[in-house]
Amino acid sequence: MAKLLTIQGGKPLTGEVTVRGAKNLVPKAMVAALLGNTPSVLRSIPEIKDVDVVSALLELHGVTVDWDSQAGSITMDPAGVRQAKSAEIDAHAGDSRIPILFCGPLMHAIGEAFIPDLGGCKIGDRPIDYHLEVLRNFGAVVDKRPGGISISAPKGLHGAKLELPYPSVGATEQVLLTAVKAEGITELKGAAVEPEIHDLIAVLQKMGAIITVQTDRTIRIEGVSTLRGYNHTALPDRNEAASWASAALATGGDIFVRHASQRDLTAFLNTYRKIGGEFDVTDEGIRFWHAGGELNPLVLETDVHPGFMTDWQQPLVVALTQATGVSIVHETVYENRFGFTDALVRMGASIQLHRECLGSIPCRFGQRNFLHSAVISGPVRLKGATFDIPDLRGGFSHLIAALAAEGTSKATGLEIINRGYEHFMDKLLALGADVELSDES
Ligand code: EPZ
Repeated sequence: MAKLLTIQGGKPLTGEVTVRGAKNLVPKAMVAALLGNTPSVLRSIPEIKDVDVVSALLELHGVTVDWDSQAGSITMDPAGVRQAKSAEIDAHAGDSRIPILFCGPLMHAIGEAFIPDLGGCKIGDRPIDYHLEVLRNFGAVVDKRPGGISISAPKGLHGAKLELPYPSVGATEQVLLTAVKAEGITELKGAAVEPEIHDLIAVLQKMGAIITVQTDRTIRIEGVSTLRGYNHTALPDRNEAASWASAALATGGDIFVRHASQRDLTAFLNTYRKIGGEFDVTDEGIRFWHAGGELNPLVLETDVHPGFMTDWQQPLVVALTQATGVSIVHETVYENRFGFTDALVRMGASIQLHRECLGSIPCRFGQRNFLHSAVISGPVRLKGATFDIPDLRGGFSHLIAALAAEGTSKATGLEIINRGYEHFMDKLLALGADVELSDES
């Protein structure tokens, strides 16, 4: 039965939440366990759907997966790795984007793989052309099949000289997970260098891989013949931390995010301070609060790391609806990541979307008919509304807008939130939110 969340808005969120392993690292590190010839242990595992999807896919391929929810760790033993029945894999089609990262490890382990059609948030076309291009350069044979992709390496996988047209996180992970056991040297230019990428490199290095990262976004990998299992604690989820920080600002609250790491949030913290948010960094985490008084508008441009992350802008836009003046957000990573603003406008926000690159630099989406710049005027009084959660980060922004709004809101589509924010309802209740979950009539 689908769930309905009823929200009574107007109450500041105050209290403490804990963030665990990053959603955008943990599933990738789990896939990396396939490359080892002994078991791997990953700690600080969040209870989110993306982890369930990868656990199920690993088990379909003969990997034993033991999740110790008490310890928050997962042990994966790849000894029994085998081909999975495609009908079973099909069941996972559309669940997530992670399955595409099974290509390299499965080709190394069993010489072939069938990857179901991908899912993931609807925030743009999200092609996988970069992934397929790099796999072919490693010597893989890629066949598009109904329902997914069949891939094999009849002559094994060899190192390659690669350059990405855009620093794609997923394509960089594809290269890392394939190159570490390919024959010879791989050079990847134009790589993504997000903290989650560095954490995956740390995992692979623990397994015996040889990887260097240069300052010019070039990653060099020397292929090795065997890798062993790893023992690793995943870095904390900076995107969840930034989401709760924006919630504190939007609702006039005060939230301590345990395990939030300043090192991974530098660009976010600078922006937070410029808007007028306060934060205090301790060894245990970061406290975020609304200092009272007016919030300042600003011009913001999303970018790849170390810029302002695209995953941070949706919750922050809600805070910008409360700033005094006109703000501009130019989304340069995804072409269609402002769909969530429709519901905010219905709640009373003043947000206009534009096709032009409104910010400092023209991006890939300029003049291509994508509404990828937003102009936000504030402050406005938000009123409760009814909405269906569109995607992970946009959904979070709907919920904090409802928590900031006057009156009652009703939200459906909550299962999307569970893809990336563990124990979401418990956290809202711990922060004093007046929310109630019921069966949708
Ligand atoms: C990862 O997605 C994250 N997801 C995203 O987080 C994050 O927004 C994104 O990286 C950017 O940081 C996971 O790690 C599971 P990309 P990914 O490949 O790897 C284009 C969230 O809310 N592109 O870096 O899929 C693509 O269309 C999610 O946690 C191609 O054109 O992102 C996009 O415009 C949302 N062809 C740009 O590159 C390709 O083959 C960046 O995508 C691959 C990507």
